[in-house]
Amino acid sequence: MCALASIPRTLIIGSTGCIGRFVAEACLASGIPTYILIRSARNSPSKTKTIKLLQDKGAIVVHHKIEVVISTVVALLEQLILVEAIKAVGTIKRFLPSEFGHDVDRADPVEPGLMMYNMKRKVRRAIEDAGIPYTYVCCNAIAGWPYFDNTHPCEVPPPLDEFKIYGDGTVKAYFITGSDIGKFTAKIITDDRAVNKTVHFRPPSNLFNVNGLASLWEKKIGRTLPRTTITEEDLLTAAKELPFPGCIVAAFTHDVFIKGCQVNYSLDKPSDVEVCSLYPNTLFQTVAECFDDFVVTIPDVSKASHN
Ligand SMILES: NC(=O)c1ccc[n+]([C@@H]2O[C@H](COP(=O)([O-])OP(=O)(O)OC[C@H]3O[C@@H](n4cnc5c(N)ncnc54)[C@H](OP(=O)(O)O)[C@@H]3O)[C@@H](O)[C@H]2O)c1
Repeated sequence: MCALASIPRTLIIGSTGCIGRFVAEACLASGIPTYILIRSARNSPSKTKTIKLLQDKGAIVVHHKIEVVISTVVALLEQLILVEAIKAVGTIKRFLPSEFGHDVDRADPVEPGLMMYNMKRKVRRAIEDAGIPYTYVCCNAIAGWPYFDNTHPCEVPPPLDEFKIYGDGTVKAYFITGSDIGKFTAKIITDDRAVNKTVHFRPPSNLFNVNGLASLWEKKIGRTLPRTTITEEDLLTAAKELPFPGCIVAAFTHDVFIKGCQVNYSLDKPSDVEVCSLYPNTLFQTVAECFDDFVVTIPDVSKASHN
């Protein structure tokens, strides 16, 4: 269901980052003409490699006549300048600001998580006030073990020594693989049903609590691991005491696994859309498949699971 006459030329800001790379790769795989804005002076060898990989897949590092802008930057308030620029240029048909998490108008984490959500809220209001067509992607948690002090759990395998279980481990959350965050984002930008909507990722197959995740990982590695409890108090202390960005992740871990911020509301606003209702025939990668991908990265476990 395409809102645009042709496939939209799409600019991605933040494509060298964790979420941005998944989104850029998915846009390129979908045949979307993909332009990436990069800050060349700051490139480390791994970022240079990411840029080269995206260019080899067809990404173009230039300014051009752009119709869709996707931002995955972490410098959230710098997007206010981008909003001004999009308003001034007047030709942008859709803006996806750097969201890619929870519905920040509903979730209410403790500090310093709240500070980050206040910035995302400010950017939302600026977009709406400017009358720019937008989509807010609320993809919930990126799949992987939800370490309470790691911003990119998709890059680290689940534990091999012990599980840290938040509270009683029964509060559920949605775990979406990075490539599916990219894949569904690439669909959303050409879908007029997502204009001025908040798209929530709630595939029933990807709803787990921490106890369930731990059991699934034990099955994959073929052994059980001890479990220790991280209480609500422990998480609140970590949110106060850990250095940045661990403190922010601890605040979100508390919001997700103690307060249930992903599941404690219904999609009852006219602006809410659930992604499975948009694409009922497109399957999500399961958490089991995601864990299989981690198993092959751990030599001993991988060998044992093949014997
Ligand atoms: N749902 C989840 O579980 C989850 C997990 C992680 C993040 N997120 C969300 O996803 C979004 C992106 O986070 P991330 O972790 O992917 O970020 P990241 O890995 O730190 O990447 C940030 C990207 O933004 C670029 N950037 C930063 N400031 C910029 C500026 N002023 N101008 C141009 N480019 C700039 C960086 O470019 P350089 O290479 O030049 O530094 C990099 O490419 C955030 O909104 C975050 O809250 C969600």
